[in-house]
Parts: sequence; C-alpha cells; structure tokens
Amino acid sequence: MNSRVKILVYNALFLLFCVGLFLFLWYAPPETTARLPHDPDHERFMTMKKKEAEKFCIECHGAEGVSPLPEDHPPKYRCLFCHKRE
Ligand code: HEC
Ligand code: HEC
Repeated sequence: MNSRVKILVYNALFLLFCVGLFLFLWYAPPETTARLPHDPDHERFMTMKKKEAEKFCIECHGAEGVSPLPEDHPPKYRCLFCHKRE
C-alpha cells in the first residue's frame, strides 16, 4: 500500500473505534449502587466531609453492627465513592 492509502485506512479504523466506544458508553447500564439513604442514621453524613463520614460507617455496617455488609460486598474502602449522596 502507498502511504496515503495507509493513512486513510488508519484514520478510518480510528473513527470506527471512536464510534464503537461512544455506543458502548451510551448503552452502558445505569448506575445501580444503593445511594446513601436519607434517614436519621445517615442524615448527618450528608454534609460531613467524605473522609470524616466514612469513619463512622463501620460502627453499624461492620460484622458486629446492626446492618452488616453482605459477604459478597465489593472492596469497601471509601464507601461514599460508590454509595453516593444526593
Ligand atoms: C447508626 C448506624 C449507622 C451508621 C453510622 C451508618 N449506617 Fe448505613 N444503614 C444503617 C441501617 C440500620 C441500615 C438498614 C436500614 C435502612 O435501609 O435504613 C443502613 C443502610 C445503608 C445502606 C443501604 C441502603 C439501601 O437502599 O439498601 C447504605 C448504602 C448505607 N447504609 C451506607 C452507609 C454509609 C456509607 C455509612 C457511612 C457514611 C453508613 N451507612 C453509616 C445504619 C447505619
Ligand atoms: C467499590 C464500590 C463500593 C464501595 C467502596 C462500598 N460499597 Fe457498599 N455496595 C456496593 C455494591 C455494588 C453493593 C451491592 C449492590 C447495591 O448496592 O444494591 C453494595 C451494598 C452495600 C450495602 C447493602 C445494600 C443493600 O441493599 O442491602 C450496604 C449497607 C453497603 N454497601 C454499605 C457500604 C459501606 C458502609 C461501605 C464502606 C465501609 C461501602 N458500602 C463501600 C459497592 C460499594
């Protein structure tokens, strides 16, 4: 192939890749992770700094707490990165 054709082919491939990526992100499933609930247990964390707030989660959600995490819970550093506040 001469180099102009090559460049054209590479550009076309790149474009195809971008379109594919765009479609992939567009159709990605909506976020389903539970948000931090608005209730007396959690209300005070809504305005606290994230790092401050996360120190308290384990008091109730640790193995001994009132609402332990499920066994198949994903890695649990930084609770509020996944369980968003509104
Ligand atoms: C005072 C105890 C307590 C503390 C502290 C606490 N939680 Fe909870 N949390 C609960 C209880 C009890 C439930 C289950 C009942 C409910 O849904 O309100 C719960 C439920 C949840 C749920 C599930 C909501 C759902 O829709 O199923 C999430 C997510 C959660 N807590 C995150 C957190 C995070 C993050 C922190 C730290 C910032 C935290 N909790 C601190 C007691 C607590
Ligand atoms: C990497 C993301 C991630 C992090 C970090 C994380 N979680 Fe979760 N958590 C999830 C997912 C995913 C689920 C299960 C799906 C859902 O929320 O409905 C879950 C489930 C839960 C549940 C049970 C919700 C229910 O419906 O029964 C509680 C409570 C909870 N997490 C609290 C916490 C606490 C407290 C921390 C920090 C110590 C934490 N999570 C950190 C992603 C995360």
